[in-house]
Amino acid sequence: MYDGWKVILGIIIFLGIATFPILYDIGKASVPPPEPKIDTPEIQKMAEKKCIESKSFMKTEHMVMLDNWRDSVVREGNRIYISTEGKEYDMSLQNTCMKCHSNKKKFCDECHNYVAVKPYCWDCHIEPKEEG
Ligand code: HEC
Ligand code: HEC
Ligand code: HEC
Repeated sequence: MYDGWKVILGIIIFLGIATFPILYDIGKASVPPPEPKIDTPEIQKMAEKKCIESKSFMKTEHMVMLDNWRDSVVREGNRIYISTEGKEYDMSLQNTCMKCHSNKKKFCDECHNYVAVKPYCWDCHIEPKEEG
């Protein structure tokens, strides 16, 4: 007769080996999420590395912010944005956002490619000049 515990142990080891590749695959996403790079000359100069509003706000609301900026400039002729901290910014995609985020490819594009959005802004607005 077999010892019951050896059979059970065998089954446990077998299941472990058989399911390992499946569990391993679930554990890692096929494409790692991007980590937007902020190492641009303009941002390096900043004592405090902060965006116009908080990071979490920018992450989820930057498209809305840009829409509002455009309406404000084009419809109301108002070009000054006052942040919640009370700082003033020129409401400009090229001269404000892209001055700090001059690494468009490693910043905006990488994130947009990941979520498969392709803003059409660059049909008219000028992208920063970059290597490669
Ligand atoms: C004065 C420089 C500066 C300006 C101007 C600026 N940013 Fe930022 N931005 C930063 C810095 C620095 C961070 C990183 C903030 C942090 O880590 O807390 C950041 C973070 C972000 C993030 C979040 C990235 C992430 O990792 O989730 C987005 C999105 C963003 N900016 C978009 C914009 C847009 C769009 C504009 C124009 C409306 C803009 N930024 C203008 C400096 C700037
Ligand atoms: C942390 C990731 C991330 C970064 C960095 C980022 N974006 Fe986005 N952006 C998104 C996501 C996600 C959406 C789509 C939101 C949706 O579909 O509602 C989006 C949408 C947009 C849209 C609206 C496009 C459309 O067709 O609806 C604009 C405009 C835009 N981003 C501009 C920028 C600019 C300019 C930068 C660089 C300064 C930037 N974004 C950086 C994540 C990012
Ligand atoms: C068909 C051409 C065109 C497209 C596409 C376009 N814009 Fe504009 N945009 C303009 C023009 C023209 C102005 C007015 C420039 C001015 O008055 O300084 C403007 C002004 C703006 C402004 C305020 C002024 C400035 O210098 O930035 C913002 C912000 C802006 N657009 C954002 C966007 C965003 C975000 C997108 C993409 C979702 C976009 N635009 C797509 C033509 C375009």
